[in-house]
Amino acid sequence: MTTLKVAVIGCGSIAKHRHLPEYANNKHVEIVAVCDIVKERVDESAAQYQAKAYTVYQELLKDESIDVVSVCTPNYLHAPISIAALNAGKHVLCEKPMATSKEEAEDMIAASKANNKKLMIAHNQRFVASHQKARNLIESGEIGKIYSFRTAFGHGGPEGWSADGKESWFFKKEEAFIGAMGDLGVHKTDLLRYLLGEEFVEVGSFIETSAKENTDVDDTSVCILKTKNGIIGTLAASWSYVSKEDNSTIIYGEKAIVRLEDDPMASLIVQYKNGEVVKYELGGIQTNESGGQTSSQVIDLFVDAIRENKEVPVSGEEGLKSLQVVLAALESNETKKIVPLS
Ligand SMILES: NC(=O)c1ccc[n+]([C@@H]2O[C@H](COP(=O)([O-])OP(=O)(O)OC[C@H]3O[C@@H](n4cnc5c(N)ncnc54)[C@H](O)[C@@H]3O)[C@@H](O)[C@H]2O)c1
Repeated sequence: MTTLKVAVIGCGSIAKHRHLPEYANNKHVEIVAVCDIVKERVDESAAQYQAKAYTVYQELLKDESIDVVSVCTPNYLHAPISIAALNAGKHVLCEKPMATSKEEAEDMIAASKANNKKLMIAHNQRFVASHQKARNLIESGEIGKIYSFRTAFGHGGPEGWSADGKESWFFKKEEAFIGAMGDLGVHKTDLLRYLLGEEFVEVGSFIETSAKENTDVDDTSVCILKTKNGIIGTLAASWSYVSKEDNSTIIYGEKAIVRLEDDPMASLIVQYKNGEVVKYELGGIQTNESGGQTSSQVIDLFVDAIRENKEVPVSGEEGLKSLQVVLAALESNETKKIVPLS
């Protein structure tokens, strides 16, 4: 197969730390175009990767030689740009959260089907080594029946990460649609669905804006979740963990407790009921803290799926299911009721 021609739309932090370098490291692709509304930003990426610079994504999509597009823009643009790219005949890798509503996500899936082009959602937490090992242990029955879990994703907020710092779109409801619960919570709804191999059927939540000023989105949330087979647990997503990132997940099973990304050395610790403790050093998770962006595998797996015409590892349907848990959490917070998910 010939080399795939790739474009990246949005040249902010996730493009710089993940999409652009991981495409550049993949020998089957060539980065041919980049786009950002901020001219200096796109010019810098274009120079670094010898790609053509655009400031208007519709112009970039007119280039028929482009095979693949990564959507790395603020959340409110995920659906419109992904749909336009799919309709222009490109395969699309879209950042999370997939969209701002169920309807938008469904339109993205429909555009992928109508154009027979692949749509993948960049849920990288599934590919972290400790998470993959934990899934194998759970799936094989090593942990026994799963009773409950607790998971958290929290740090000091996107002002230290986003290309626009304190002025970032992350803090604006019109562009972000949701705060920490959408930014970080959706990583964990996706991870838990993957680890447990079950869908969530009931969601309750409290979602607050506690720590940040000058924002109209949430920064602190706690959810309670229940799966089809009665596994219950909590999910916390926060931009108010002021001194240290927490990206940990603990699974409580019949035969063991599994601690993920909870120890600085051992990314997976299995504490068996009989007292035996097994520590796995599998390498770190991608974090916002300095030096924390290890290779995510997202880009390589997406490129493989296109080249070998296989199912993408995180489909639009999967992205939608993980988004729906977040949408149910928003509804629960507003209605003060437990929200059922079908
Ligand atoms: N998978 C992950 O672990 C992960 C981590 C961080 C961010 N993200 C997601 O990636 C996306 C981008 O986040 P980020 O951290 O890079 O944000 P960022 O603020 O650093 O960058 C966003 C970029 O998009 C550009 N942009 C805005 N409107 C545009 C338009 N119309 N056309 C082209 N470019 C436009 C901005 O100028 C900015 O450079 C978000 O959806 C975010 O949730 C995912």
